[in-house]
Order: sequence, then structure tokens, then C-alpha cells
Amino acid sequence: MTSPIIDFLLTRNSAPIPELRAPAPSDAEIATILAAASRVPDHGRLEPWRFILYRGDVRVEIGQKLADLAERREGPLPEGRRNQELARFSRAPLVIGVVSSPKDHPKIPEWEMFLSGGMAAMNLITAANALGYGTNMITNWYSDCEEGRALLGLAPHERVVGFVHIGSYDGAGQERQRPDVAKLYADYAGPWEG
Ligand SMILES: Cc1cc2nc3c(=O)[nH]c(=O)nc-3n(C[C@H](O)[C@H](O)[C@H](O)COP(=O)(O)O)c2cc1C
Repeated sequence: MTSPIIDFLLTRNSAPIPELRAPAPSDAEIATILAAASRVPDHGRLEPWRFILYRGDVRVEIGQKLADLAERREGPLPEGRRNQELARFSRAPLVIGVVSSPKDHPKIPEWEMFLSGGMAAMNLITAANALGYGTNMITNWYSDCEEGRALLGLAPHERVVGFVHIGSYDGAGQERQRPDVAKLYADYAGPWEG
């Protein structure tokens, strides 16, 4: 049996961010991508995630703010490093931040809400790839830093699942060694005995 979806899943990979070019997905395509990203398992229908679009000039303004923040944290930056920070969000024409936004719930653990956010990110990536765009999801230092998250628009209780960089891409993707799947599963062999 052949399935184009299985073929797609077995060959998908990420694109190098510097090779993502304009045009970005259109507004209608972005709506489709986010509809797919929102159609994921979500225990209790809490919608414990949201999406932030970074496009246009704001990408350059964020680079300036990240460079300033990095300098406040680390002292004067060498020119190469400063330029790296300045370009963080402007290499791809569109970056979508997948934000884990946990909700208070008496029974559903936060851990499950985080996992649902990861699923949203993967569906987002898959949908963008299915529309023919290249993607690469990164987090980086600013995701692990409260001031970084705040300047990127996250509330204090929120966390970054990933910043998915999206653009037109005509390469073959970054091939890398894949896991030996046969080593990753086994039939159940009884309780863990350490
Ligand atoms: C949650 C998460 C965060 C990541 N953050 C980074 C990062 O900050 N920098 C980086 O170079 N790669 C990061 N990666 C890895 C990239 O997404 C990488 O290009 C990708 O795993 C390539 O695999 P693929 O070809 O199967 O998509 C991250 C991956 C995940 C799942």
C-alpha cells in the first residue's frame, strides 16, 4: 500500500534558516497552518497554547532589542555576535512563536499542557511543509530567559515551545542521521526493575 502522507512523513526534514526566503505564506495560508496547528490532542479542551506572528519590520526591531538585552546581560558584544542578535528574527520572512500557555485546572497536569503545545508545533510545521514552505524551529537563549520571553510578547507564566521560521525554500532540507527505530521499541516486559 502506498500513501503520500506516509511518504511525506518519512522524508520530511528542516531547512537551514538562512536559506528561507520571501515570499512567506499568505494570510490565507497562515490561517490554514494555524487551523492545523490547533487541531491537536488537548486534554480537557483547555487550548493551552497560542501563536505569535513575527513579520515585517517588527522582526528587525526585535533583533535590536535582543542585541541590547544580550549586552545588558553579558557586557559589550563582539561585532559578529551583535550582528547575530540583530538578525535573529529577520532571517526568515515569517516566524511563528508557538507559546505554551498553561491554564489552571484541578486535574489535568501542566506537563500534559506542555505536550499539547509540542503537538501544535509539529502540526504547524507539517502544515507549512505540506503547503510547500521550508521550516526550522528553534528556541535559543532568549526563550530560556524571562526578559527575553517578555520582549517577545510572552506573559510571565508562558513558555516558548519554539519559534518556527518559515519561508520559501527550494533545497532538499538538512539530512541528518535518523534514529535506529528498531532499538526504540520492544514488547512490554513487566514492571521496571531498575
Ligand atoms: C524544542 C526544540 C528546540 C530547538 N531549539 C533549537 C535551537 O535553539 N537551535 C538550533 O540550532 N536547533 C534547535 N532545535 C533543533 C532544530 O529544530 C533542528 O534543526 C531540527 O531538530 C532538525 O530536525 P528535522 O530535520 O527532523 O526537522 C530545536 C528543536 C526542538 C524540538
